[in-house]
This record gives sequence, structure tokens and C-alpha cells, in this order.
Amino acid sequence: MARKKKERKYGKQRDLIRSATKGDCNFIRKLSGEVFSVFGDYSEIIPQWFVNPDVITVTYVKNGHPVGFAMLYVLTGEILAIAVPPRHQRRRIGSALLNHIECLASQLGLRRLSLHTAKENNVAHLFFQKAGFEVIGTQENYYPRGQPALIISKHIGLLPCTRS
Ligand SMILES: CC(C)(COP(=O)(O)OP(=O)(O)OC[C@H]1O[C@@H](n2cnc3c(N)ncnc32)[C@H](O)[C@@H]1OP(=O)(O)O)[C@@H](O)C(=O)NCCC(=O)NCCS
Repeated sequence: MARKKKERKYGKQRDLIRSATKGDCNFIRKLSGEVFSVFGDYSEIIPQWFVNPDVITVTYVKNGHPVGFAMLYVLTGEILAIAVPPRHQRRRIGSALLNHIECLASQLGLRRLSLHTAKENNVAHLFFQKAGFEVIGTQENYYPRGQPALIISKHIGLLPCTRS
């Protein structure tokens, strides 16, 4: 009741991207299990990355609820993970997260982003290709369940970043 009143008063909350908090951990664990478990036990692995001080995690929030996240390893410029739940995909949420990560990396002085993505993950290839990433190598048996990966990379230069 009080929430409905508040929503009427302030209107719909806008989308935003912010640093992930401990409160996002369950969302990140669940989503990682949903989209990455075919490659390994990522509902356990990704929460371990989350607490690494050299990893920046950002969350996309829609109407007060997390609907995507991305993780950057700041020591190398590797994007460790980016994910959007299937029901929210194809609405530019992944693109907004990737742009945000690119801006953060640029502000940190990184000039190149890279990541591993499964050879079989055609949607990810199309997504990163559209964002300007190129394949620079392959790695056999990269994932815990044995799938090979493509290594992809993008030069990011110095980006003029705006707040999300
Ligand atoms: C990859 C992923 C993050 C993309 O997120 P998204 O919010 O759906 O992507 P966007 O809506 O920003 O799509 C941007 C572009 O990527 C391409 N793309 C994204 N999903 C696509 C699909 N299912 N089929 C074809 N092209 C697709 C399109 O070119 C799209 O632009 P368009 O919609 O104008 O044609 C999402 O599919 C996902 O979470 N997948 C599971 C996890 C994963 O594989 N992560 C990547 C490896 S770490």
C-alpha cells in the first residue's frame, strides 16, 4: 500500500547501473547458475570472484530490481562475466552494462578489454562482435566442463564517459 502510494507520487523508477552490493550476491549466484552451469559450477565460482578486491562488479537495476551484472578484473582488463536473465534479454541491458564496463576500464587507465567466451556460445559472439570485439585466439579445455573458448579483445582508448 505504502509502496504503491510512493510509486504514484514519484512515478516509475528509472533504470540505473551501480556498483554491486552484498545484497546482489544471491541474484548473481542464481543468474550465474541459470546461464553458465553448462560450462561449470559457476553459481559457486562467480560469487568467489565477487569478493575479490581486484574485481569490479556492476549491477543493472530496473524498477528497483537487479536484472543483469558484469564483472571486470582490473589487473588485466578481463571481463570475467556478463549476464542478463533470459526474460530480460534483447533489451539493450547487456549493451548498457558493457558500455559501463568499458568506461570504468578506460577511467582506470586500461586500454584493452579481453574475455573468454565459449566457442559454442553464438549469442555471446554476436553480442561482442556488435560491440567491436575481435577474436584473437582460442583455448582448448578452458571451461571446467571441458569446452573450448575463444579469446576476444577490443581496444578501448580514452572514452568520454557519462553517468548511467
Ligand atoms: C550476451 C548477453 C549478456 C547479451 O545481453 P542482452 O541484454 O540480451 O543484449 P543486447 O540487447 O544489449 O544486444 C545487443 C546486440 O547483441 C546481439 N544479440 C544479443 N542477443 C542476441 C541474440 N539472442 N541473437 C542474435 N543477436 C543477439 C544483437 O546484435 C543485439 O543488437 P540488436 O538487438 O540491436 O540486434 C545475454 O544474452 C546473456 O546474458 N547471455 C547469457 C550469458 C552469456 O553468455 N554471457 C556472455 C559470456 S560471459
